[in-house]
Amino acid sequence: MKTVFVLNGPNLNLLGVREPATYGSATLAHIETRLRALAGPQGVEIVFRQSNSEGDLVTWIQEAGQAGAPVILNAGAYTHTSIAIHDAIRGAKAEVVEVHLSNTHAREEFRHHSYISPVAKGVILGFGARSYELALQSLFPSQ
Ligand code: DQA
Repeated sequence: MKTVFVLNGPNLNLLGVREPATYGSATLAHIETRLRALAGPQGVEIVFRQSNSEGDLVTWIQEAGQAGAPVILNAGAYTHTSIAIHDAIRGAKAEVVEVHLSNTHAREEFRHHSYISPVAKGVILGFGARSYELALQSLFPSQ
């Protein structure tokens, strides 16, 4: 069975109520349900997690790398600050697709830089909850 880790960083547990004009109305649970529905028929198992702690994300990226499982990663604000997550991706040789709900380049300047992009396989942003679905399709193209 193929496995993909879907890892979510700080404040993404608030999706649905958090700034819906920016992030949309879908909750994280909705996103998880949708991804499982898409992945199941392809025989892809999803490990779906969220944490507000940087260290949890580092540990889970290492776990995915050791398991040889790709990662769909929305690191939230840690995207713009975390050398530790950058190092975890490099160190664990994790295959990461960076995702964001919003188009961070169309927002405040402090969101324009990502520590994850240089070590990511690809980046998908700005498509709301669909960013996650597009990331899944990029890793497991359906025939
Ligand atoms: C985000 C963008 C980040 O800048 C922000 O800190 C988030 C969410 C997104 O999905 O658009 O928490 O990663």
